[in-house]
Amino acid sequence: MSLDAPFSAPLRAATPAPENNSELATLPAPRCLHEFLARSQHDHFGFFETPGDSLREAQDRLILRGARLLQRNSLVVDVGCGLGGAVHLLAAQGHRVIGLDPCAASIAYARARASSPRAQFVASDLTEFARRARGARFDALLLTEVLTHFSDIGALLNECRTLLRSGGQLLVHEVVQHPSLVSRPGGFHTRGALSMAADAAGFDVLEARDLTTRTSPTVARLGRALGEKRPELLSAFGPERPAIARELDEWLARLRALELGFARAELSYQATLLRCSARLGTDSVVLRRAPRPEPAPLRQPQPPS
Ligand SMILES: C[S@@+](CC[C@H](N)C(=O)[O-])C[C@H]1O[C@@H](n2cnc3c(N)ncnc32)[C@H](O)[C@@H]1O
Repeated sequence: MSLDAPFSAPLRAATPAPENNSELATLPAPRCLHEFLARSQHDHFGFFETPGDSLREAQDRLILRGARLLQRNSLVVDVGCGLGGAVHLLAAQGHRVIGLDPCAASIAYARARASSPRAQFVASDLTEFARRARGARFDALLLTEVLTHFSDIGALLNECRTLLRSGGQLLVHEVVQHPSLVSRPGGFHTRGALSMAADAAGFDVLEARDLTTRTSPTVARLGRALGEKRPELLSAFGPERPAIARELDEWLARLRALELGFARAELSYQATLLRCSARLGTDSVVLRRAPRPEPAPLRQPQPPS
């Protein structure tokens, strides 16, 4: 099965239940803002199929597209689960899922919304979790927009490998930058870096897909919602977060930089599926399609205005 195959799994209802804003105010920025706008418990891009998709529907779809590659009743870890949206979705599909995140407020928020005993949450970073897992072997790991928190992709893959059974899957969704860019203002890794590091860390690359066209509308969607809801946001968070206006401006600036990056093809959105190989450091990369030729260098990027 391919990450590109047509997909029409039922998504969650588009109208979210009202939430308590003072609880949102305990979350780090911009997660509190994202959750105020989308109420999806996701802090990641969505996969849009029609212009009428809500952000929450599109975000659910991004996760569920990956999940259909899992075997039934898989044992899954969502590394850097944030508010737990993916954990809840996969648990509802019958998988046993552990969400881990070093942000205690995010884990508390996620735990309070768990409706299945198959969904569990641990306040921990990956290194500590791998140490405490003591040889446990999982069927799959999800890394959804967490790569920027890891400067060394090879070390990250080695750590993931200690948690996966042989043949286990690693599904990575991430914004990456064009190989010709030297600086990393957004902290993004270079496109292809993950696949390059995979072999030495004992992973086969099963799929590497560019999802930019489907996912990049997320940025404009969030930017528009931020503009429309700014007064509401300021009054909802104002008493508890004096810095809310600055946080809003910073997030908007980051969204603009992302929008510019996608428009100039400096940034792209990739889904990569890796399989934990029994071998280590051998010539084990399996690409179903021939690698694309290296893209032409871009003109030097201008700093976002
Ligand atoms: C952009 S958020 C994505 C959250 C979630 N995956 C989602 O898509 O909704 C990145 C998350 O990575 C977490 N994180 C940062 N460093 C981490 C580490 N060393 N191990 C595990 N998670 C980490 C952050 O706390 C944050 O929740």
